[in-house]
Amino acid sequence: MAKKALILTLLFLATVPLGWYLSDSLGILFFDDAWWLLLVAVGLGTVLGIYSGITRPRERIEGDKVERHGARGFLSHWGTSVGIFVCLGTGIYMGFLFIEPFMKSIADTVLPLNLHFTGVTLLLFAGFFFAFDYLVMRDFDRLVPNLKDLIHGMLGKYFLRRKWHAETKYLSSQKVAALGMASIGAVILLTGAFKVAAHVWEISADVWGWMTLIHDIATGLFILMLIIHVILVLVLKSHWSTLASWVTGKVSRDFVEEHHPIWYEEMTTGKQRAYKPFGYKEDSSEK
Ligand code: HEM
Ligand code: HEM
Repeated sequence: MAKKALILTLLFLATVPLGWYLSDSLGILFFDDAWWLLLVAVGLGTVLGIYSGITRPRERIEGDKVERHGARGFLSHWGTSVGIFVCLGTGIYMGFLFIEPFMKSIADTVLPLNLHFTGVTLLLFAGFFFAFDYLVMRDFDRLVPNLKDLIHGMLGKYFLRRKWHAETKYLSSQKVAALGMASIGAVILLTGAFKVAAHVWEISADVWGWMTLIHDIATGLFILMLIIHVILVLVLKSHWSTLASWVTGKVSRDFVEEHHPIWYEEMTTGKQRAYKPFGYKEDSSEK
């Protein structure tokens, strides 16, 4: 896994110098002249996501190790993350809410706009890959929280210090956080789509203004959620195993048994609620 993680990381990071180089050499505004690339990214992410979901192997316990992350998960999480970080960096540089733009002249806007486009392209590719891989898996409550997750797994566990054992592959708190991020991400995506449309068609200044304001407020909220996400991962010791697993791909059997008992049970009984691609037959022989 470490090798795959390294290759994917280099590929994600390479999009920035590539975007920079193309911006300088082609001398065009990508949002004006290459907007169709965004549709290509969505299409490619969708097709590969469906393929990944259909061909996904079942999760297993092998000796004292459990594979938690493979190249698919790495692409989803870190592809979207790198895309978002590039969007954040370039977006803040262009100025938003009360932050003044860092550019001195109109000509200076071309590079940050083109790099924002580069980040958006990577984000759309990895985001649609993630969404369709997940939809094909058809285990919706794996990452979508219910009321119990919110009340017992989040408020009860962390604020009232009550025990909560019904943790699946993702902790209740992770599910709540993921839903929050996805909701804000959807707002950024929709408003961003209007802003892209304004580069291609005539859009009223009023609509553009509202979309920009909402795009920017959502960006502010997203930054808050991201800071909380990273702080929790770094501060809570129980998250360190999953952090290391982004490189090694594996966590220990004991860790899964203690922190993700329902996922553990699913794997040991062979009755996984996840990984039900079309044509899936339950394998009860896996003990
Ligand atoms: C988490 C991801 C994103 C963040 C944090 C982000 C943030 C920002 C910020 C702060 C700006 C500069 C202020 C403004 O013009 O609103 C901006 C501009 C822009 N964003 Fe995003 N954005 C993200 C994703 C997207 C996506 C997915 C799209 C398209 C679908 C998009 C399209 C645009 C466009 C077209 C502009 C520039 C408009 C212009 O000045 O001509 N953004 N973004
Ligand atoms: C824009 C950036 C980011 C977004 C949108 C994001 C989002 C998410 C989401 C939705 C999950 C749960 C589902 C999954 O595993 O894919 C997650 C898990 C996780 N994230 Fe992030 N994340 C971001 C950046 C980061 C960063 C910078 C770190 C490192 C400090 C990090 C560390 C982790 C870890 C350790 C997990 C747990 C994985 C597991 O339980 O198996 N994330 N993140």
